[in-house]
This record gives sequence, structure tokens and C-alpha cells, in this order.
Amino acid sequence: MTILRKADSFVGVTAAGRSEPGSEPGTPTRTSTRTPTGQRGASASAPAPASETDPFTRATHLRARIEYHDRRYHQLDDPEISDADYDALTRELRLIEASFPEADDDSSPTRSVGAPAAAQFSAVEHLQPMMSLDNVFGWEELQQWDGRNRKIMGVDAAFRYVVELKIDGLAMSIVYRDGEYTRSATRGDGRVGEDVSANVSTIAAVPKRLTTDTPPRLMEVRGEVYMPRQAFVELNDRRTQAGEPRFANPRNSAAGSLRQKDPRVTASRELSFWCYQLGALDGGPAFARHSDTLEFLSECGLPVNPETVVVDSLDAVYERCRHWQEHRHDLPYDIDGIVIKLDDLTHRNELGSTSKAPRWATAYKLPPEERTTLLTDIQVSIGRTGRATPFAVLQPVFVGGSTVAMATLHNQDQVRIKDVRPGDTVIVRKAGDVIPEVLGPVLSLRPADAPEWHFPEDCPVCGQRLERPENESDHRCRNIACPAQAFARIVHFGSRGAMDIEGLGEKSAGLFIEQGLLNDVGDVYTLAQRADELRALDRYGETSIANLLAAIEGSKSRPLGNLLVGLNIRHVGSTMGQVLARAFSSLDALAAASADDIAAVEGVGSTIAQSVAAWFADEDNRELIERLRSAGVNFVGPAAPANPQTLVGVSIVVTGTLAGFTREGAEEAITSRGGKCPSSVSKKTTAVVVGEEPGASKLNKAIELGIPVLDEAAFVLLLETGL
Ligand code: IVH
Repeated sequence: MTILRKADSFVGVTAAGRSEPGSEPGTPTRTSTRTPTGQRGASASAPAPASETDPFTRATHLRARIEYHDRRYHQLDDPEISDADYDALTRELRLIEASFPEADDDSSPTRSVGAPAAAQFSAVEHLQPMMSLDNVFGWEELQQWDGRNRKIMGVDAAFRYVVELKIDGLAMSIVYRDGEYTRSATRGDGRVGEDVSANVSTIAAVPKRLTTDTPPRLMEVRGEVYMPRQAFVELNDRRTQAGEPRFANPRNSAAGSLRQKDPRVTASRELSFWCYQLGALDGGPAFARHSDTLEFLSECGLPVNPETVVVDSLDAVYERCRHWQEHRHDLPYDIDGIVIKLDDLTHRNELGSTSKAPRWATAYKLPPEERTTLLTDIQVSIGRTGRATPFAVLQPVFVGGSTVAMATLHNQDQVRIKDVRPGDTVIVRKAGDVIPEVLGPVLSLRPADAPEWHFPEDCPVCGQRLERPENESDHRCRNIACPAQAFARIVHFGSRGAMDIEGLGEKSAGLFIEQGLLNDVGDVYTLAQRADELRALDRYGETSIANLLAAIEGSKSRPLGNLLVGLNIRHVGSTMGQVLARAFSSLDALAAASADDIAAVEGVGSTIAQSVAAWFADEDNRELIERLRSAGVNFVGPAAPANPQTLVGVSIVVTGTLAGFTREGAEEAITSRGGKCPSSVSKKTTAVVVGEEPGASKLNKAIELGIPVLDEAAFVLLLETGL
């Protein structure tokens, strides 16, 4: 197997902040894109005391904090700050030490790695020191790293670089003697680690015997133990069910799983391993290149990451970094950067290392996806259907490519499970386009007087009592006249997927409500008669008013599906709007239908059907419909289109119960596409569709005659595409 490949050209795009998709108006998740510069010092732990004006005092303070955080991360598996905040502290300290030699200190944590081994596992002295990596942030720092190496080496020609993923897990040293798994140790302080041999031996990806006939007398491999994201999610689900605290992220989860007294617990945790470095070697082949060592490790049966590539220019290295910046979430495990290593081992020997890190390698850090920040308050927003959603108000923090100031907490149970309180320092995660999430509090930083948060009993906007129906996780404000609901309903009515009224966004809807021009959706079409009142508003010139009124007029002819979306019926989004419009062809026909009639439509479940029927039964809503009718809004939908005749000449027998079709429905689906649906299987049958508990005779006959047997998914595909 070739695990190393030459990288072609990779084109990457820098991740940019985006607004969150899918949030109901009123859902409190707001981000803005800013550069991370200047945010790096925004660590959630206590800011530098004001007295720290001289570099010496500041450096001393930073050292104490870094040592403290080292201990929490390496020994206790309970970090208080995110990696990005930790990096910010060490960068600041390194900068002071470089700029003010008098503030430098030989015992500074910038010169050591990790934290001493904890007492729980016996101490192991490493065969070779386990070093850390220096970081670079961005293209310029990458060039500086490369330039320094060239200068030291006096090299003009291009280096060959090995570009690897920086796996976000725990560094591990694993020793094999005569091909047999012998010992595993954590990094510890780089010189002495913890003996976790029994636990690591439970990891399936770590071979217990090397797959070579000529194993070295001694071989030490370095790599990263990690937890795949899926395993992490499942583990947290199990922990929630068992009432145990959740892990904040896969790395913490991997660390916690490894530091178990009982290896059976580790074995149950689905840890995995990528190997990225050959350590001590006795009695093995001689190597000229790092890439050769990786090939060798792979041949020995060790898992080397398949994304590893060899490139021969710094531009290609950078392209690779940008590629992963964009695609990190395509991987099933977390990475926090890219590691770049010089391939030529003689170059490495010449460049050597500082006391902490090799010069021949560096880590290109990806923008942080987790940060710690202060949760200043928990508030509740009211959505267009009355749903009351708690959200965290955060001290703004740059994370995942944008500045996050709020994050939804979903519902009462989630707040309880996460146990977050105003005043907590919390870990915030924003991965790519995913909506920002508060992972949980840093309990060790919780102020002694931080009170538990309780869901408010009354709607924070209209004051009416909030209800939480039995078996539901959401609280609701039932007051249809609640101004917060009206606002959200109007904004939704005017939104693109609904009536698409340009100019009726959050700002104008808010202003019109405030000025008494709008109270609810029905008022939208009265604005044309109130043009003078619009003119009296500061923000509205003649052109804006004309544009708004034209957009409102234009919206009257939107398709029925869009109107249904705009009516704010619970569970009716854009797909359901189209389905109902097609099935009923007019608003009046839908309004007259019973819940059973609606549920009979293909693709409509009973919850949706009941919600639709209940909406049309409500008197206020009936009144709204009449107001829209007199305004001239289109109530008529497209006639149900004839199905494409994809099954002409095809004969299909259905046997057994299908989940998504009644027997009649399945037959209708076939015949309406031009196919035949006989009751028995013969030589003329094209295919037999088999559901739950099929008739044995039909199935046996199909097998006997060699007729294709389809399950329900294949049947659906057949209906869509024909043969
Ligand atoms: S090489 C002397 N390669 O990152 C070089 N490290 O921040 C030692 N890591 O301690 C490390 N993926 O735990 C190397 N492909 C990779 C890596 C990697 C993850 C970790 C490792 C190391 C830390 C440094």
C-alpha cells in the first residue's frame, strides 16, 4: 500500500464567517466576521492585573498561568481554557522573552513540554525526549520558518516537505521489542511520561505484533491516540442517559478514556491511533527520509494517516494547509492544524532542536473552533410560533471564523444538562458553518455565588404565562397577540422562502410595529393606504416607500406554496408548503379538509396534518385568511401535475407491508406512471416489491423465475427514475 502521495495542486478557500442557516427569526444566534487579530489575548481567565506594566512582572504572571494550564491539560484532562487561548498566552510570553532578555528565564514553560507525570500511573522515562512543536499562524509565519531553516542550512534549492494532519488527540510513545508490543507512555513533561501500556493495548488500531518477518530489536513509534467524532457523540449520548457529565470535545474524551484504572473501560471507548513518527530504533533499516520511515511503519502494520503527502515547494505546503482549513470537517476526526516536516533526515540532523521543539518541523495552526468566554446572561426569545428559546449572551469571542456574541441553548432540558449559569466561563464551539454552541461551563472557574438558572414562568415580552406541554421539550407563549410573535411572524411572512417582500426585514418590521403601522401579518396589505404615515417616518424616502409598496403588491401573486409557508403554520416549511399546495390546489380546499384528509396526502404525517387542520380551525387565522383574500392575495395552487410516465410497459407486483405506502397508494403510484400492478407473479412480471411480512408464494415464485426483488427504497427510486 502506498501511503504517501505527491500532492498535486490543491486550491483552498479561506473559511469566511456566514450567517446561520435554518434559524427561525428571533433565534438568537448572531455572528459577525472579523479578523482574529487582537482577539488572541481575549482569554477568558482573569486578565492581566493593571499593575503588570513592566515586562518582567507580566512574564512572571504569564509563566504561572501557563504552568497552571499545563497541569490542567496534561494531568487532569480538564482544561480551563481553549487551545487557542493557551496559544495566545505562550505567544505573548515568547514575544516578551525574545524582546526583553532580562525578563527571560531558563525554567520558563516556553522551554519545556507538557506537565510532569501524575501519580496514578507509574512513571516511564522516554527512550528519546518527546518534543512538542512550534506553531505558525498563516503564510507569512510559514515563510519565516522556512527562511530561518534555509539561512541556517545555507540552502537555496527547495526542501522536500512532508505534510501531515495534526491530529487533535494525545501524543503516545509505543515501544515494540522484537516485533512485540511492549509498552506505551504518554508524553508527560517530555522526558518522563505515564505508563498506559494496558490501556493502549485495548486500542484495535495499535498492532500487538508487527507485521514484518524481520522486526527491529527495538522500535519506538510516536503517534496520536484520538477518538473519532462519531464515537465521541455516541459516548456523550450514553453519558447523558446515564446522568454522567458530558465530555467537552473528542480530545478530552480520548484523554479521559485513556486515563482509566480499568483497561476494560478504555476498551469500551472506541479509541483509535495514527502513527506519525519513528522514535528510537535498534536493529532496523537505515533511512534517508522521513517519508521512508512512514512507509516502513505502514509495512509493519502501523496505521499511518493516508492524507500524508510529500511536496517539493513551500507554495504546495501552503495550498495543502488552505485545503485543510476548508475541508477539516470532511474528516471523521478532529484536527487542529497541519504538521510540516522536512523530509531529508540529514537536514533534520543539521537543524536540530531548541529545548522544546525541533526546528525541522512546525505546526500550521488552523483557526480555533473552540474558545472560552464569559456567559453574561441567559435570556429567552420568542419565535413566530410562540416557542420560547433560551439563549446565552456571551462576551463576544472570535471562534470558527466569526465573532460570536450569542448562542442558542435550545430548551430548558439543554440548559439543565449543560449546567450553565450566568457568570460562568463557558467553552464555545463553532465549527465551519455549524451554528455556534455552548459546550459547557468550566466548573473550576464558576463564581461561588453563581445562581442556578431557572426558566422564566412568564413570557418576557407579553407577560403571559409560558406553557410547557407534557412530553414536549419546548416552552411556548400561547398569546397570539404577543408582540414578539407578531414581529417574528411578519418577518417570516416577508422572507424569501415565503412572500418574498423586499424591504420588509427585521428593521422595518420592528419600526412599523413600534409606530403602530403593523400589528400582524394581515396589516401588511394595508400599508399601501398608509403611505402618508410611512412618509412621516425619518428613514423612509419616496423611493424606498415606492419600492416597498411595489414589493408588497408583487407578493400578492406568489404561488400558493409560498403563501402556505408564510402563514406560520407549525411544521409547514418550504417542502411541506409545496406538497400541500400541489395536493389541494387552493387555500380554500385545504382549509375545508379534515386532519384525516390532509394525512392521506403522500408525505404528510399525522402530526403535520393535525397542526395544519388546527391552524385553519382557529378563528383568528380564518379572519386573517379573509383579510388576505380581500387584499387580492393568490389562493390558487398549481394543478397536481400528472406523474411522468416512467413505467409504461412495466408490470410490478407488490407484496407485504410498505412503510410509506398503503397497498392502494403503492398501486396508484405504479398505475399513475403508466405501469401495471397485477396480483400474482408470472413470467411477465418485471419486478416484485417486497415489504414487511411478504407473501411466501409471491416471493418464492419471484426467486424461482429469477425476477428482480426490490425493497422499498429501490421501489421509490424506480418510481422516480423508471427502469
Ligand atoms: S510530530 C518532534 N506529527 O502535536 C515532533 N505531532 O503540538 C513531534 N501531533 O506533541 C511531533 N499530529 O501530540 C507530530 N502529524 C503529527 C502530529 C503531531 C498531532 C501532536 C503531538 C505533538 C503535538 C505538538
